[in-house]
Amino acid sequence: MYRILKKEVYSPVTYMWVLEAPDVAAAARAGQFVIVCHNETAERIPLTIADFDADSGTITLVIQAVGKSTREMMTYNEGDHIRDLAGPLGEASHIEPLSTVVLIGGGLGVAPIYPILRQFKLKGSHTISILGFRTREMMFWQERFSAYSDELIITTDDGSYGEKGLVTIPLQRLINERTINRVVAIGPLVMMRACAEVTRPHGIPTVVSLNPIMVDGTGMCGSCRVTVGNDVKFSCIDGPDMDGHLVNFDELMNRQKRFDKYEKIANKKYAQ
Ligand SMILES: Cc1cc2nc3c(=O)[nH]c(=O)nc-3n(C[C@H](O)[C@H](O)[C@H](O)COP(=O)(O)OP(=O)(O)OC[C@H]3O[C@@H](n4cnc5c(N)ncnc54)[C@H](O)[C@@H]3O)c2cc1C
Ligand code: FES
Repeated sequence: MYRILKKEVYSPVTYMWVLEAPDVAAAARAGQFVIVCHNETAERIPLTIADFDADSGTITLVIQAVGKSTREMMTYNEGDHIRDLAGPLGEASHIEPLSTVVLIGGGLGVAPIYPILRQFKLKGSHTISILGFRTREMMFWQERFSAYSDELIITTDDGSYGEKGLVTIPLQRLINERTINRVVAIGPLVMMRACAEVTRPHGIPTVVSLNPIMVDGTGMCGSCRVTVGNDVKFSCIDGPDMDGHLVNFDELMNRQKRFDKYEKIANKKYAQ
């Protein structure tokens, strides 16, 4: 059992938990994830470790309520316990000192990119963060990003805060202005693909963090299979970080829809 020490609600569908999980916190590295099973009858769902603190023995998860499990979890409050937590899982992000690295978070992808940003900064890189939200109301963690970003750009789709438009606009501008050594993009698949297409002509190494449907999280079931260049990879053990220029995004987007029908039924039943 893992206790929820703190809960914050960022929007009607976005919330944060700080969980007491000393073993996971001690072993966690930026880029890794956990698999949560919140009660006896729940499914197992993967969630990125958005922050961790070995001293306090805590990990932080930022969750979007998109279906039955994540909506049910949103009803849990401080002091409640979740049943199971497996992790840390996946390969840690590859982080070394770079002259200039651009970290792009789209929507909920802002949370998982935070520990990667922090690690790049602590290693001495010049860090530029681009955070994209749909509207000002969806924004979160601006202060956390300010602390580790040499430059911070915020975009909103509707222009209610920061620059109006998509994250690819400032990305293209930065590429035109200076030398970028690496781009790391985390967010919706369409956003990660768009970022990879902007950097491709310039040959800028671009890392994306994939979120295919996972079941066991240990490389056994094959659910998280993705095609990367000529290779078949399993996101849970080979990733989640992958080379954005080699990922077959079309295949991944199709595979992501394969349980649509059952997800809708579960969601509807939960609402009744
Ligand atoms: C490595 C990884 C890290 C992730 N990190 C986060 C995170 O930090 N915060 C967050 O809110 N979400 C994260 N996700 C997505 C999250 O796991 C799904 O949103 C969640 O499983 C949805 O479950 P549900 O029952 O609420 O919704 P459902 O209605 O069951 O599904 C809604 C959508 O979520 C996706 N999904 C469903 N089941 C899974 C599954 N077992 N594995 C992956 N995707 C699934 C599908 O695209 C589906 O269409 C991550 C996924 C992966 C693979
Ligand atoms: S989730 Fe089963 S192989 Fe990756």
